Amino acid sequence: MPTAIEICNVHKTFRKKVRALRGVSMRVDHGQIFCLLGPNGAGKSTLVKILMTVIHASRISGTMLGRPIGHKATLRRVGYLPEHHRFPIFMTAEQALHFYGALSGMRRRARRRRIDAMLDLVGMTGWRKHRVGTFSKGMQQRIGIAQALLHDPELLLLDEPTDGVDPIGRREIRDLLVQLRDEGRTILINSHILSELETICDQLAVVVKGRVSLEGTVDELTSGRRRWVVAYEGAGPEWIEEETRKDGRLTQVMLPGADAAEVQPIIDRIRQAGCTITAVSEVRESLEDLFMRALVLAGEDEGSTPGAAKGEDA
Ligand SMILES: Nc1ncnc2c1ncn2[C@@H]1O[C@H](COP(=O)(O)OP(=O)(O)OP(=O)(O)O)[C@@H](O)[C@H]1O
Ligand SMILES: [Mg+2]
Repeated sequence: MPTAIEICNVHKTFRKKVRALRGVSMRVDHGQIFCLLGPNGAGKSTLVKILMTVIHASRISGTMLGRPIGHKATLRRVGYLPEHHRFPIFMTAEQALHFYGALSGMRRRARRRRIDAMLDLVGMTGWRKHRVGTFSKGMQQRIGIAQALLHDPELLLLDEPTDGVDPIGRREIRDLLVQLRDEGRTILINSHILSELETICDQLAVVVKGRVSLEGTVDELTSGRRRWVVAYEGAGPEWIEEETRKDGRLTQVMLPGADAAEVQPIIDRIRQAGCTITAVSEVRESLEDLFMRALVLAGEDEGSTPGAAKGEDA
């Protein structure tokens, strides 16, 4: 699979003190939704800003869309939604989109056509003549997404795209991201809302204190970690551990790593003990489980104090 972004050994130290990135390497495949996860202050936004040349790395090597990181002309092929972005408050939604479209070199006629389509896509057509300063956080975010998509980019870097957006809007954005991916675009997304990414994430990296703790495709990372959950009603046989029985009412037993054939005799034994099987389901490791596993691997499982590593540049 062709590579959209490949970075190797990225370091960023702010003011010779804050080591925001400490040797980050990762690969984002073309046509995938790549989720960049990590606790507050882990360095996610710093990394995205480096890719967009908003800030410069202390050390970096790698490519984006086949060109070296920092290649200006390549940025025209990239859509960017910054974290906590602010549009000029005196502009209407339409004016703001014209302004950002012009910045990326789009001609007026193309801008008009795309602005109509993008406002429709993010459900803001009725607000086009209203000033951005009067918009709620979620409405500003929708305009931000329209801005990122305006010049029809092949790669999207979205930093917290659903920040402030209501549940219906979040679902719309999720569906939109899947549609964009299915059209062949690559999407790198920073978000804290793991449940939201669960169904759309193809690849991920978990960054903890400026280092990648876990990286790969969801399938790679969760293979061998499947488990079966057998729910049943009744007292349950003796061999099921005490804590899973819960007073003989509806309960369940978890079978880590088992395949479907291995589960059958266990179901038989539960039934032989006079219980009624109510459900049998295969459960994949969730993104939240993966996230917690990454924290443990990084030795960061004892709290969620935000911040980067302190000390001299590596
Ligand atoms: N301009 C800056 N000057 C000094 N330190 C900075 C600057 N920008 C970021 N940092 C520090 O770098 C570290 C990483 O910040 P970054 O914004 O990349 O984190 P993040 O993973 O995006 O966090 P969040 O999930 O809260 O958005 C933090 O410790 C932050 O304080
Ligand atoms: Mg951030």
